[in-house]
Amino acid sequence: MTLAHWAAALKQHWGIEAELSRLDGEYDLNFLANARDGQGYILKAMRPGCETWLVDMQVQAFEHIAARQPDLPCPRVIAAASGQSLLTLPDEDGQDRLVWLLNQLPGRCYAKAEPKCDALIHEIGKVLGGSGKALADFRHEGLERDFKWDLTRAGWITDQLICITDPGRRAILKGISADFVKLEPDLAELPKQAIHNDANDYNIMVAGVLGEPRVVSGLIDLGDMCAAPRICDLAIAAAYIVLDHPAPEAALAALVAGYHEVYPLTPAEVNMVWPLLRARLAVSVVNSTMMAADNPDDPYVTISQAPAWRFLEGNALHVGLLTARLRAACRMPVVEGADRVLAWLEQERGDFAPLMGKDLSDAPMGSLSVEHSTWPQNPFHMPLEEAARVGEEFEDQGRIWLGYYHEPRLVYTDLAFRKGPYTASDRRTVHLAVDAFAPVGTPMFAPLRGEVFAAEYRDGHLDYGGVIILRHETPEGDPFFTLYGHLDPEFLDRLQPGDVVKKGEEFCRLGDPSQNGGWAPHVHFQLALTTEGIEADWPGVGDPDEMYLWRAVCPNPAALLNLPDEKLRYHPTDKDEVLARRRAHFGGNLSLTYTDPVMLVRGWKHHLFDEWGRPYLDAYNNVPHVGHAHPRIQAVAADQLKRMNSNTRYLHPAQTAFAGKVLSKLPNHFEVCFFVNSGTEANELALRLARAHTRAKGMVTPDHGYHGNTTGAIGISAYKFNKPGGVGQADWVELVEVADDYRGSFRRGDPDRAQRFADLVDPAIAKLQQKGHGVAGFIAETFPSVGGQIIPPKGYLPAVYEKIRAAGGVCIADEVQTGLGRLGECYFGFEHQGALPDVVVMGKPIGNGHPLGVLATTREIAESFDNGIEFFSTFGGSTLSCRIGKEVLDIVDDENLQENARTIGAQLIEGLRSLEQKYACVGDVRGMGLFLGLELITPNGSEATEICAYVKNRMRDHRILIGSEGPKDNILKIRPPLSIGSEDAKMIVSVLDRTLAELETA
Ligand SMILES: Cc1ncc(COP(=O)(O)O)c(C=O)c1O
Repeated sequence: MTLAHWAAALKQHWGIEAELSRLDGEYDLNFLANARDGQGYILKAMRPGCETWLVDMQVQAFEHIAARQPDLPCPRVIAAASGQSLLTLPDEDGQDRLVWLLNQLPGRCYAKAEPKCDALIHEIGKVLGGSGKALADFRHEGLERDFKWDLTRAGWITDQLICITDPGRRAILKGISADFVKLEPDLAELPKQAIHNDANDYNIMVAGVLGEPRVVSGLIDLGDMCAAPRICDLAIAAAYIVLDHPAPEAALAALVAGYHEVYPLTPAEVNMVWPLLRARLAVSVVNSTMMAADNPDDPYVTISQAPAWRFLEGNALHVGLLTARLRAACRMPVVEGADRVLAWLEQERGDFAPLMGKDLSDAPMGSLSVEHSTWPQNPFHMPLEEAARVGEEFEDQGRIWLGYYHEPRLVYTDLAFRKGPYTASDRRTVHLAVDAFAPVGTPMFAPLRGEVFAAEYRDGHLDYGGVIILRHETPEGDPFFTLYGHLDPEFLDRLQPGDVVKKGEEFCRLGDPSQNGGWAPHVHFQLALTTEGIEADWPGVGDPDEMYLWRAVCPNPAALLNLPDEKLRYHPTDKDEVLARRRAHFGGNLSLTYTDPVMLVRGWKHHLFDEWGRPYLDAYNNVPHVGHAHPRIQAVAADQLKRMNSNTRYLHPAQTAFAGKVLSKLPNHFEVCFFVNSGTEANELALRLARAHTRAKGMVTPDHGYHGNTTGAIGISAYKFNKPGGVGQADWVELVEVADDYRGSFRRGDPDRAQRFADLVDPAIAKLQQKGHGVAGFIAETFPSVGGQIIPPKGYLPAVYEKIRAAGGVCIADEVQTGLGRLGECYFGFEHQGALPDVVVMGKPIGNGHPLGVLATTREIAESFDNGIEFFSTFGGSTLSCRIGKEVLDIVDDENLQENARTIGAQLIEGLRSLEQKYACVGDVRGMGLFLGLELITPNGSEATEICAYVKNRMRDHRILIGSEGPKDNILKIRPPLSIGSEDAKMIVSVLDRTLAELETA
């Protein structure tokens, strides 16, 4: 009834025919009006008796914003046919209401939008800044209202704290009140203007399509507008942004920087963000507690306050450091005077006393970077022996050499550097100091006068050992600090905080590893413009994604060493430059994974590192079968390269040892091995063998298979030849449907599906015979991988093989993806099927990154091929390849990796199945061991290609590499090195869970 009434009003006064539905609203009637033409509107019929000024103020403010900043995302007021924006109309009870109409904004409110990434928060800052700027000259009598939500009046809570009964909580609020009182005089000095005053997470609308950056579609609800300093507007938005945010300080920085970009703030305003944010949260909890006093049993109050309390009680953010961060994000001096300190250091560069007692202009630089160094061998563990030898390659008869500032390194392996629960969690890697490596006992001289701020001994493994911090002042009285780490602690008897060290005075010396935390002798020399929040415990390295802060707090100390900044500053290889060069020098069909490609420069077992040292869990790559950079593979390769590397025309025991190892893993009827360079080459050879043996040409193969990149291999790879632009199907090839019992013709409920899929081979054989090609053989990836990680029903392959053999053909099992223990339960996929092929092809993993392919077959087939023409592959079966191949297979055995694949695979499948229960978009979980697929579907069950791309990219954002496969690219492929562990499996499931949850709200 109500709906019909207001629909009629909408038609009568605005000429819009629409279907109405009721929206939330405490007192007012709000309707969503879906017009015939597809446009959406919000019709607002205010409560009877609502003050006209309040509605008029909002209408005018929206119109003002639209006029001042037409491009700002913001709702537009739709005037009625009469030209009026605000009407007075009777409701169905005959009571007059103020009624107005807005256009509907696309998307959903920020509270329900995911992911809440920094880029989106930055956008919010920009839109808020834009609206602040637009409202700067907006005037309305209603703005000067006296109400509790005016943050400049937050002091009202002081007298109401009695309502907070929990003493701990009351103490927190008392502290906030006290801080607010201190701030009030400065706040009062700031100019006032019209502000939104309630940019909470329900009043910010967010839109955008899956996989594209989210955009702010507008700020709604100007009902709390008032005149106040604009910083109050920003602090209010900030108070909601931080709630339950996993990295509130980074989120705040993104918000404030966004605002500043559009509507520049002063440093004094930025300093107020934190205390005002807290004041707003305090107002909010006090207000709702007071409201609840009348309704003591209403659980909503506690629930609605919970995020604010979690933040106020749980967050140990340091106000000084946070403010420095916000200032750094706005490119302001991090603390008052920091710009003057930098200018003075620049002016004095060249005149400081030499730290090491000599001019360092010619001192060589040594890089310990992720890209240029392999210290430590295991990037997750730095043993004492290695730490004491770090950089020994740069040692030159005791000559001083320098280590870079701003250099990402993997030498910081302690858990203290890690920022999350997993091995692949982000870690701090970027060096914030300069190192000078020199012999033990080398004396050091103060570059300038300083007062001892700290002189301590830190005895932790890989800590500083002896460390001194000096406090300095510029002639203008601006303070700054220098730190000297890894010292001989002999100074402890001499230096106390407060002591003065004169310019050029010898004040400490380099310690040996037993004194300096365990490192090769050097000094870690760091400059800081503030000790706010870091006191005497400075981070020596920073998170690569937080360098905007740390570069500002701890700038390059080169001036103090009388050196140019550029000499000491490290620049990681610029990924964008590499991308541009790649585009310039390579073909366009050399594809790159991820919307934002990743550059990987180091690896260890199942982890990889980018140029900034960010770790990634490699859940995708099967080539490093036993793990990236496996020490045994390194050793065997280096050892063989020291000796010789030749080919199969000469005898070498490594060749027969490797063949023996391969054959030991296969049924007895395999007696002969061929060594080649790749899976492709092995499949190409398999074709030749089959044809030589059968004297036929025709091949049967499942649809959407892949066997390699040469002409012959592509001929049997429907995945390639059937793509748009592909070469098309050769007449000697017959395709059969993939035995996919999730999506294919015969489904899991059918007990005869294996035989039914196998029967599809009959017409294929018949066709080849009809065409006169005969049947040379059948080739299949034992478990189709590019087809979508498919496990054919048991019994499928034996049934197919029977038919092929009956037609005279050879059965080829491409085990490139499935062989060598990956499946856990069995060493090869054909074992699981209970099938016995005639030819087995192995590739990729068997070389662990070294190019190697192997074909194993029967004596009989090998003899058919031995027709007098030499078979030779220059690199296939090289001494080096044979040693590496054998080592890989030995490692699988020695490290029990097949069993690991079984147990971790089972854990993963269990975790993935729980996600299948939880999320409708997970259609199927399948696989064995560490060969796993997760099929993503749309609500109607079709292939969810976009969702899959989104999940893959988001997993990468969370530092997990996985792939996608299938004809429609909707199957997530999890196929890690076999070394992966239980914690890693937990990480995969937990991050997938988070990512799939984002989809529910996307
Ligand atoms: C099943 C299968 N066979 C053969 C190949 C070809 O191997 P390569 O790229 O080493 O030539 C691949 C490569 O992805 C494969 O997945």
